[in-house]
Amino acid sequence: MNVDEVLQAAEAEVAAAVNEAGLESVRIRQLGRQGALTKLLKGLGKLPKAQRPAAGTAINAAKTRLQRLIAKRQAALATEQLAAKMAAEAVDVTLPGRRPGAGGLHPVSQALARVEDIFVGAGYDVFSGLEVEDDYHNFEALNIPPAHPARAMHDTFYFADGSLLRTHTSPAQVHVMESQQPPIRVICPGRVYRRDSDLTHTPMFHQIEGLVIDRGISFAHLKGTITDFVRRFFERELRLRFRPSYFPFTEPSAEVDVQCVHCLGHGCRVCGRTGWLEILGCGLVHPRALAMSGIDPETWSGFAFGMGGDRLAMLLHEVNDIRLFFENDLRFLEQFN
Ligand code: FA5
Ligand code: MG
Repeated sequence: MNVDEVLQAAEAEVAAAVNEAGLESVRIRQLGRQGALTKLLKGLGKLPKAQRPAAGTAINAAKTRLQRLIAKRQAALATEQLAAKMAAEAVDVTLPGRRPGAGGLHPVSQALARVEDIFVGAGYDVFSGLEVEDDYHNFEALNIPPAHPARAMHDTFYFADGSLLRTHTSPAQVHVMESQQPPIRVICPGRVYRRDSDLTHTPMFHQIEGLVIDRGISFAHLKGTITDFVRRFFERELRLRFRPSYFPFTEPSAEVDVQCVHCLGHGCRVCGRTGWLEILGCGLVHPRALAMSGIDPETWSGFAFGMGGDRLAMLLHEVNDIRLFFENDLRFLEQFN
């Protein structure tokens, strides 16, 4: 091969090199110690003397040209590789970010907080009581002795040692009366448990107990408190009725129903065709219950109530099955954030 042929082949190889490593091997093949051009230079001595200067000049020119071409190609390849790397690592700042999902309070927790706010605003203290209770506080101190038929209404979960999961928040009012002297104004929100399950009942639910003890407390105070609470809680005009009822620890006793929010009183599946949903039980604290916990019924009187927190949430949000609150379906829960 003569100089021109070697140069032509080398130029083609330089142009074809796709990366810096490939280009380096072209350089070694052409200009290295065993390279094609180097060999031509070494072969100069075999030429007739007269041709040597011209041939030497031509080879050197080819060598210089090739070196320049390689340097140029190398710069181009480096720029190309950098551009490719930048493109691969590019961050599109205009894409919407992936936000971590924000949690929220459960609708029942929100309803309990709403109840607390209303009563705390009216000067009540908050006390939470115990979820695992003894028979005395859950029943006996509330004037429900062992064979009393009222026990049958509370389908109780018992532990082997005789302790139990409280069936209502009323034992919390016993703890309050045992440890404080009147005047008392307290609410006790918390979980309670019963073997119960249907559209409006779950085995674990929430109650908010209320207890007010002072001089001269009458049923009028109770009625006013509940009526005012319902208005503040629902922030709309819902009909309300006090229905005479029976609890061993209150006398007289009542249950309070709110107009069903689903059918507005016409009667539907949720309210059992009655048009009403029961939200609480209440009454004037029975003198025996006061005396058993160390409060003199001759001096003091009081009222108590126990509201269903889940029922309140159900009515507030017009939910038609109370069990939805505890199935933890995010599509349901997310609606309350
Ligand atoms: C009681 O539990 C009494 N301790 C209430 C009371 C307190 C009366 C203080 C007098 C003085 P009752 O079993 O009716 O009462 O329950 C009260 C409220 O809890 C009901 O009105 C209802 O709103 C709610 N409730 C009862 N059972 C369930 C249940 N399984 N699931 C959801 N809510 C329930
Ligand atoms: Mg009831």
